[in-house]
Amino acid sequence: MRLIGCRRKWLLTTGTALLGLLFLLTGNFQSCEEDMMRGIWENSIDMGNRRCLDIFYKTLNLSAQQSICSQIIGGDQTAIEKTLLNSLDVTRRRTPLTENHYWNMTRDCAAFKRERKYLNFALSKEEKNFPIAYSIVIHQNIEMFERLLRTIYTPQNVYCIHVDRKAADSFQLAVRAIASCFSNVFVASKLENVIYASWSRVQADLNCMEELLQNPVRWRYFINLCGMDFPLKTNAEIVRSLIVLNGKNSMESEVPSATKRERWLFHHEVKNQISRTEVKKTSPPISTPMFTGNAYFVASREFVNHLLESREIQKFLKWAEDTYSPDEHVWATLQRIPTVPGSNPYNSKYHMSDMAAIARMVKWSYMEGDITKGAPYPKCTGTHRRAVCVYGCGDLHWILQQHHLFANKFDPEVDNTAVECLEEHLRYKAIYRTGLM
Ligand SMILES: *[C@@H]1O[C@H](CO)[C@@H](O)[C@H](O)[C@H]1NC(C)=O
Ligand SMILES: *[C@@H]1O[C@H](CO)[C@@H](O)[C@H](O)[C@H]1NC(C)=O
Repeated sequence: MRLIGCRRKWLLTTGTALLGLLFLLTGNFQSCEEDMMRGIWENSIDMGNRRCLDIFYKTLNLSAQQSICSQIIGGDQTAIEKTLLNSLDVTRRRTPLTENHYWNMTRDCAAFKRERKYLNFALSKEEKNFPIAYSIVIHQNIEMFERLLRTIYTPQNVYCIHVDRKAADSFQLAVRAIASCFSNVFVASKLENVIYASWSRVQADLNCMEELLQNPVRWRYFINLCGMDFPLKTNAEIVRSLIVLNGKNSMESEVPSATKRERWLFHHEVKNQISRTEVKKTSPPISTPMFTGNAYFVASREFVNHLLESREIQKFLKWAEDTYSPDEHVWATLQRIPTVPGSNPYNSKYHMSDMAAIARMVKWSYMEGDITKGAPYPKCTGTHRRAVCVYGCGDLHWILQQHHLFANKFDPEVDNTAVECLEEHLRYKAIYRTGLM
């Protein structure tokens, strides 16, 4: 009897202690989550908060398989050379996730978001109050698209995906399957057949702009991306940069060379590809000069709203439809028209190179070199595609020190470690507010 009583008592005490411990553990975890939801997180990290951050980092980290990212990002040459050698080794090649894989994974959206470690809450009040709209134009490489989306995804932003109409059905379906897991990610309802150097590239962004404006999210800035872009900044850092722009847009806008001027002198025809005709075009229907830049830019909501509503701008866009590669002069020219919100005067003091703008970091092969001898950027450590650097992990140290929000081009089949290390670094920084460097 006595023995049993004793055992019962023992059982009771240990049981209560265990229960209490469990309660304490889960209770603490919940309070971390509650803290986060209330946005307490953005205050200084005291010891209690630090513990919360560790808990969240454990579940949300995107750590690379080899733990060399802090060395690579820190510019450690030995680690970089070792990784670059490994990436050349065909036997170590990984196969990217396929469309079927995503189709399969997204059948259970909650599991998909959990396993792929999507953020499901805003990380600060500042970010929550400053939603961003994205237009992402893609045609292939589902894994790269999903990794890009995962890195820029936060629930307060809104994402419009334009899939090339001629992309494979399996690709279209996989993109739609991914989008269907998020209320703030959608595929554009009007899809273009995107033909290189033709108007269709501009139209794809315009289609997304129109739908993004109708979206209930009151986004503040617009950013367009393609499938080979990757961010260099966390969402919090992007928001800070956009706030500093103070309503201005940021994009390359420079005086056109003689050869670029020819792009709008003649009428072009588009079939399977674009070709120039002998038919001369009228001069542009604007009173300000033409400028050139590139297809990627950062623009205020007011800019987007204005160009869809202004008859003057619509006339200019219509005129530009049969020019060669209009994406490289339409945005750059709009940016210098005084009535356009967020624009700059066409005075030469406001000419802006791609390096001065924050929209995109691109390394052109013929400009690479020794920065101590005046080159704009160091040599590419990956490969080149159409004279543009596809970054290797040796590029990260330098590009992460620039002000650009995004860089082009990344391809896991050229250097997966470069992408993995950016993923790890940005997730670490999103949570701890300090980088791996
Ligand atoms: C990263 O997440 C995995 C689970 O996916 C976990 O096993 C690992 O410990 C985490 N790493 C860090 C540094 O928290
Ligand atoms: C995905 O497919 C594999 C077989 O190919 C299957 O074992 C697995 O259960 C599937 N996963 C889901 C979420 O349906």
